[in-house]
Amino acid sequence: MLTIRHLDVFRGRTHVLRDVSLEIGRGEIVALIGANGAGKTTTLRTVSGLLPARNGEISFAPREGGEVLDLTRTPAEAIVAAGVCHCPEGRGVFSRLSVHENLLMGAYLRDDRQDIRRDMEQVCAMFPILAARRNQPAGNLSGGEQMMLAIGRALMGRPRLLILDEPSLGLAPLVVEAIFQHLARINREGVTILLVEQNAVVALELAHRAYVLENGRVVMSGESAALAGDDNIRKAYLGG
Ligand SMILES: Nc1ncnc2c1ncn2[C@@H]1O[C@H](COP(=O)(O)OP(=O)(O)OP(=O)(O)O)[C@@H](O)[C@H]1O
Ligand SMILES: [Mg+2]
Repeated sequence: MLTIRHLDVFRGRTHVLRDVSLEIGRGEIVALIGANGAGKTTTLRTVSGLLPARNGEISFAPREGGEVLDLTRTPAEAIVAAGVCHCPEGRGVFSRLSVHENLLMGAYLRDDRQDIRRDMEQVCAMFPILAARRNQPAGNLSGGEQMMLAIGRALMGRPRLLILDEPSLGLAPLVVEAIFQHLARINREGVTILLVEQNAVVALELAHRAYVLENGRVVMSGESAALAGDDNIRKAYLGG
């Protein structure tokens, strides 16, 4: 579904991503793990069209056998419309807008009002807390609830590929577990997922496959279970 080939990205004068290549198959959950500053957010922001690529290509095939877009040459709003929805680092909820208004922002590019209403009902069924707080400012929600809101907002864009930047950050372990169970369910219902995490333990539990990013380069990749059993990975990312 998504193929990144030989991607180089600069931020200012800093060469952040170096020759990054990775693939995500339809229906997969793929994790990108790596330390602080490895280039994980830069990768996601480039996929979403928020940062330019210096070299390389990112091909995205929303439908099996359908058209293929080069996301390095596609404006961000067209990337969303093609079905790539981004849950950003730090969640990015609009704290003074209500929960309901935040969810509607996820459907900003859509005009199918009936379907939007139905998707709103589905998101509220998945996250009942969002329904209960629909008229409250999003800033009043707890961190875990804001994460659910950010995921719900992304689902309102009807993603084919959902990308998440550190969904576990700053949340208590039980809350992380609940969020990751939701992600597993969203995946079973047909959404492909690209997940960025510093928390390699939870990421490798959820993902089918993973890539390890170090200093802007992919240094390792494979099935999650194999990576979780690898001595170097255990020492560097799983606490021994
Ligand atoms: N706006 C910016 N301008 C210049 N350099 C930046 C900018 N944002 C990030 N960088 C640099 O790019 C590199 C990769 O940053 P990035 O945010 O992609 O890493 P990350 O893997 O997401 O890290 P973290 O785990 O801290 O979120 C870092 O060296 C960082 O200092
Ligand atoms: Mg980051």
